[in-house]
Amino acid sequence: MDYDALAADYARHRRVHPGVLRSLLSASEIGASSRVLEVGCGTGNYTVALQGAVGCTCWGIDPSEEMLALARRSGGGILFRMGMAERLEFDLESFDLVFSVDVIHHVADRAAYLREACRVLRRGGKLCTVTDSEEIIRRRQPLTTHFPETVEPELQRYPGVGELKALMAEAGFGAVEDAVVESAYVLSDIQAYRDKAFSSLHLISDRAFRAGIARMERDLRDGPIPCVSRYLLLWGLKP
Ligand SMILES: C[S@@+](CC[C@H](N)C(=O)[O-])C[C@H]1O[C@@H](n2cnc3c(N)ncnc32)[C@H](O)[C@@H]1O
Repeated sequence: MDYDALAADYARHRRVHPGVLRSLLSASEIGASSRVLEVGCGTGNYTVALQGAVGCTCWGIDPSEEMLALARRSGGGILFRMGMAERLEFDLESFDLVFSVDVIHHVADRAAYLREACRVLRRGGKLCTVTDSEEIIRRRQPLTTHFPETVEPELQRYPGVGELKALMAEAGFGAVEDAVVESAYVLSDIQAYRDKAFSSLHLISDRAFRAGIARMERDLRDGPIPCVSRYLLLWGLKP
């Protein structure tokens, strides 16, 4: 996926999920003196929101220079740098929280990432991987309801929750647990879908894409489209 090319649309359309932010704030127990690393920070939405909420010191890494350029515009003294999940260029035990949102399916060597996350966390620090489970992918509204062809390629590229839990245990994490957050909303402007601001829309044929947009336009004639945004948060503790 070419995130350099997607960066502008991403910045225009993607926002922080309120349930994800609430959970990151409450379950991580971070405060003003905490050190936080976001892996695959993209345009920096979550890092900026966390820092704004608790005043922690934040780093964001991403391999896309275009995403980072947009993240840096948000200011706030956050250190945004080029980097990959598989090789975290930070010292041992540098962070209280390491997290990623919507990234783990892009990480080629997930075992390496989880080992690296464990290395850079202090003892008692937490890892949070925010992702989609198979159930969430199958129930997506509106992606699955309107673009059903996205389901199979998405199931291919997202790791299963069981697989991630096993890799976390191998990497040294304890107290591994998951939680689902959801937020209902209505959609009256489908520009984000027309702009393909969701990477799954790049995985289907043009014909399937156009059919999905036509479904959305038809539904919009009866009023805003009811939607639900769900995420699974997978937590682990460095013992
Ligand atoms: C769907 S975006 C999510 C961005 C941000 N976390 C958010 O939720 O707004 C996925 C991001 O993962 C980044 N990415 C892809 N492969 C990566 C890797 N191996 N390590 C770290 N980040 C990666 C992409 O450049 C992109 O910015």
